[in-house]
Amino acid sequence: MPLQRSNPLSGRVTVFEEFGLRSSIMINGNKVRLCDKNLTNAVNDYAWRIDPELARLDAAPLLNISFTEYLPNYASELHHPPPAKQQFAILTSNGKHIGNCTYYDINESKDEAELGLMIGNRNYWGKGYGTDVVTTLVSYIFDKTNLKRIYLKTLKSNQRAQKCFNKCGFTPYEHRSSNRPSFVFMELYRTKWQQNKDKNDDESKKE
Ligand SMILES: CC(C)(COP(=O)(O)OP(=O)(O)OC[C@H]1O[C@@H](n2cnc3c(N)ncnc32)[C@H](O)[C@@H]1OP(=O)(O)O)[C@@H](O)C(=O)NCCC(=O)NCCS
Repeated sequence: MPLQRSNPLSGRVTVFEEFGLRSSIMINGNKVRLCDKNLTNAVNDYAWRIDPELARLDAAPLLNISFTEYLPNYASELHHPPPAKQQFAILTSNGKHIGNCTYYDINESKDEAELGLMIGNRNYWGKGYGTDVVTTLVSYIFDKTNLKRIYLKTLKSNQRAQKCFNKCGFTPYEHRSSNRPSFVFMELYRTKWQQNKDKNDDESKKE
């Protein structure tokens, strides 16, 4: 299955100084921009963490604290991000915050990391945004780091997520159903990503 074609800006990274204190990252996809998270994302993030359907789809515990209790930890993580984790807000081309994505458990000895994403705003499900996020983030990771393998997991029942990851080149490597709920584990190696990219570039040149 061919990977989604990218525009000339896809995967390109803009690094700029924010208030002269630290650099901020913006990665451009076709439909989305991936940006460093900031405090303006907290309201949406909280709303998505207390949403029972999103918690179920993400196989995550439902948050059970008030926004006032949630905010200090949120701000603290923004200022002191965990070292083995990179997270981004997903913005539409108009700058609307619709979800989040991350790569984490970055293991430099195994050259691998786990990828996660959630589009919290239901109006953007099933319209190609997830595919663009994954394609853009994977290109960023393989372009900017030495990682060789990216893996992820999703619920076996989550067909939309599996279809999205499949379109981005991920293939299942393990089904674990001994425990409830059942998960599908998927992976993408740098070598396969590069092959798909070269193939798409060749097809673009022929057109
Ligand atoms: C999972 C998720 C990231 C996918 O992103 P998305 O933007 O919805 O996905 P895309 O539109 O890029 O691709 C989804 C594909 O599944 C198809 N699809 C949509 N709804 C479907 C459904 N209920 N069952 C099966 N396939 C479905 C779409 O048609 C599309 O395929 P196509 O391009 O061949 O038509 C997003 O829906 C999401 O975050 N959902 C809520 C939380 C969640 O599921 N979290 C778990 C993530 S591991």
